[in-house]
Amino acid sequence: MTEPKRVLLGILLATGVGWLLLVWMPLRKLGPIRPSADGAPFGRAVIGGKVYAANGCASCHTQVIRPPNLGSDIARGWGARRSLPVEYQEEHIVPLGVLRLGPDLADVGERRTEPHWYYRLLYDPRTVYPGTVMPSYRYLFSRVPLLGSPLPDALSLSGRDAPPPGFQVVPGPKARALVAYLLSLKRVPLGETGKTP
Ligand code: HEC
Repeated sequence: MTEPKRVLLGILLATGVGWLLLVWMPLRKLGPIRPSADGAPFGRAVIGGKVYAANGCASCHTQVIRPPNLGSDIARGWGARRSLPVEYQEEHIVPLGVLRLGPDLADVGERRTEPHWYYRLLYDPRTVYPGTVMPSYRYLFSRVPLLGSPLPDALSLSGRDAPPPGFQVVPGPKARALVAYLLSLKRVPLGETGKTP
């Protein structure tokens, strides 16, 4: 075999084996598995996905649960099962994330179900996690006059976070959309016909 032919064969083998292992095999194993219901966000949560992207949440949070043989995501309680490629199909911006400074959020709506908890976290993360590196997103909230009793969504703030007397702090439209999005992040069960990945 001549030298150029050998090089060509080497290139073909290297790309071919890579394609088999990284494209064909995962597609064959995971392609036919479908979640039992459409888990893609809708309504206000779609806008929330844009707020998530615009605020750089994906620079500290991922949204992909790894299979048990590739990490301890499931053991840490970040989700009951691994993420599937089909789950990202409906999303325009796929927030897989680049770094994990905070927990994975692919299934956060399943473990945190209280909107107020999220508002509290976004307004001042240190009241939820003392000493955390997560920044505050209080610009997504507004301070409005308190007329009578506080609004149902008003944050109960104390200490340095407390608004001046006669005022209350409420989530703005972007904070509401973002929390709707976070609550929608659930890894729905797999369809009856699907194989367990
Ligand atoms: C600088 C990194 C950083 C950024 C940016 C960041 N976070 Fe976090 N976040 C963290 C860390 C770290 C924690 C875990 C708290 C701890 O232990 O310090 C966390 C925790 C959380 C949790 C709780 C997760 C759980 O499992 O209970 C949620 C929800 C969350 N962040 C949402 C967001 C959203 C939404 C944004 C964008 C608006 C954001 N974070 C931006 C670092 C970050």
